[in-house]
Amino acid sequence: MKKRAVYPGTFDPITLGHIDIIKRASKLVDELIVGVLNNNSKTPLFTPEERVEMIRESVADMPNVKVMAFDGLLVDFAKQHKALFVVRGLRAVTDFEYEFQMAQANRIIDKDVDTVFLTTSNAYSYISSSTVRELASFGGDISKFVTKSVEKKVKEKIKKRNK
Ligand code: PNS
Repeated sequence: MKKRAVYPGTFDPITLGHIDIIKRASKLVDELIVGVLNNNSKTPLFTPEERVEMIRESVADMPNVKVMAFDGLLVDFAKQHKALFVVRGLRAVTDFEYEFQMAQANRIIDKDVDTVFLTTSNAYSYISSSTVRELASFGGDISKFVTKSVEKKVKEKIKKRNK
């Protein structure tokens, strides 16, 4: 049976930090499924379809990575795809409490779903999607945070939103 893991998130938009985690996590399993949360309470900049598309483009050179949107509980999504574990990236100690709570909650909901943390590479430890959105909304340079293609899409989106 294929060894599979799920890497969930909002990915609004996908950053170089996410791509780093995807690359490294994909080496630990036969198949990595990137799950894009569909029913987020936050109002996203990009639709789930746009986010899925941007991630697909970013992982085009990683043959064992699949990208799909999901609704509802992460543990159900992980079970549905027979994932052995969930992957999350840890940037700094500030991520820890939220991640710890989420991992514990998920294990209470379903004791079989474990979370594996990968610490981000140093170069990406300060990057987050919210920083990218905020920087871009003030016309800042996001080229060190996202791929060229994502940079273009973020700029277009912000321009449209400000019209
Ligand atoms: O990139 P994010 O926004 O930090 O990702 C958060 C995500 C999508 C992993 C989390 O919100 C999630 O799993 N949501 C699905 C609903 C769920 O299962 N909630 C229970 C976990 S406490």
